[in-house]
Amino acid sequence: MKRILITGSNGLLGQKLVELFSNSDCYSLLLISRQEHSVFQEETLQYRQLDTTNKQGIRKIIEEFEPDIIINTAAMTNVDQCETEREAAWKINVNSVEHLVHMAKLVGAHIVHISTDYVFDGKQGPYDELAVPNPINYYGRTKHASENVLRISGIPFTIVRTMILYGTGYNVKTNFGLWLYQNLSEGKVVSVSDDQRGNPTLADDVAYGILKIIELERSGIYHIAGQDLVSRYDFTLELAHVFGFNKKLITPVKTTALKQAAPRPLNSGFITLKAQAQLSLHTSGIVHGLMIFKNQLMARKHDLAVSER
Ligand SMILES: NC(=O)c1ccc[n+]([C@@H]2O[C@H](COP(=O)([O-])OP(=O)(O)OC[C@H]3O[C@@H](n4cnc5c(N)ncnc54)[C@H](OP(=O)(O)O)[C@@H]3O)[C@@H](O)[C@H]2O)c1
Repeated sequence: MKRILITGSNGLLGQKLVELFSNSDCYSLLLISRQEHSVFQEETLQYRQLDTTNKQGIRKIIEEFEPDIIINTAAMTNVDQCETEREAAWKINVNSVEHLVHMAKLVGAHIVHISTDYVFDGKQGPYDELAVPNPINYYGRTKHASENVLRISGIPFTIVRTMILYGTGYNVKTNFGLWLYQNLSEGKVVSVSDDQRGNPTLADDVAYGILKIIELERSGIYHIAGQDLVSRYDFTLELAHVFGFNKKLITPVKTTALKQAAPRPLNSGFITLKAQAQLSLHTSGIVHGLMIFKNQLMARKHDLAVSER
């Protein structure tokens, strides 16, 4: 049985991973996240509260649990917050990875680390795994640096880059899909950029890709993202269609009009042929992904409490 440590287990992707891996008898899991309690109540799902910037805490937990694999989803994921709170962003997104690498070396663990399309500048997307990173915001710089920590570490690792994650879970922070749902379902107007292109990605698909990576013992870099490369505006129109929301509430704007603290890569997107060929991974397009998202929201509506990012 493989022993897997999942960081950020209370986050969106973390929850999807826990749900998926806990369905199999092949894995023994230890969940860690920053909050006092796990969102999972099951006694079989061991949870420890830990801030990954706490080097001693990481040491203790990894020495005790001796994972074969560490899946690192924990990160400061708010792109504008990273731009303005740079020291904290570096500590969480880079120094934490250094701590994990240090301990992985001691116990012989493989790290699966989650990164982003924001390592690219968005000038010439879609990008494959061989494209050269050139981040244009601080979040992207921290994630690029975290990738480099792994590249020079000498330990076995897999970097999974993904983008525009959407999905639902217990008390998850707002993501693009949830934000749209929240506003449009209340009849509120949303301004959405029509000049930012990427592949919106159902979080469940990334979790499944990571399961495949672990089953097939793959290392290196993988781009895992939804099938369709679209603008955020087009994604929003499709979401309104799937949910039956009023499309007149949606206003297309240019990214600069949003006056966000961090610049965004515009012409992004991923080529996912490597994941398709090597992992037999076929991710959802936006229509299929949004229908799954809708079903999940309906099933969980009563206990969904979305907090602001
Ligand atoms: N969301 C996207 O669109 C997107 C796109 C590309 C890549 N990614 C990457 O995918 C990964 C997962 O993203 P996500 O959307 O699932 O993020 P998320 O929902 O924000 O989850 C991150 C989780 O990590 C926890 N965490 C943050 N800092 C921590 C720390 N120092 N110690 C322990 N736990 C900590 C958070 O806890 P708190 O609630 O206490 O903060 C949260 O539970 C991240 O590495 C992110 O960079 C995300």
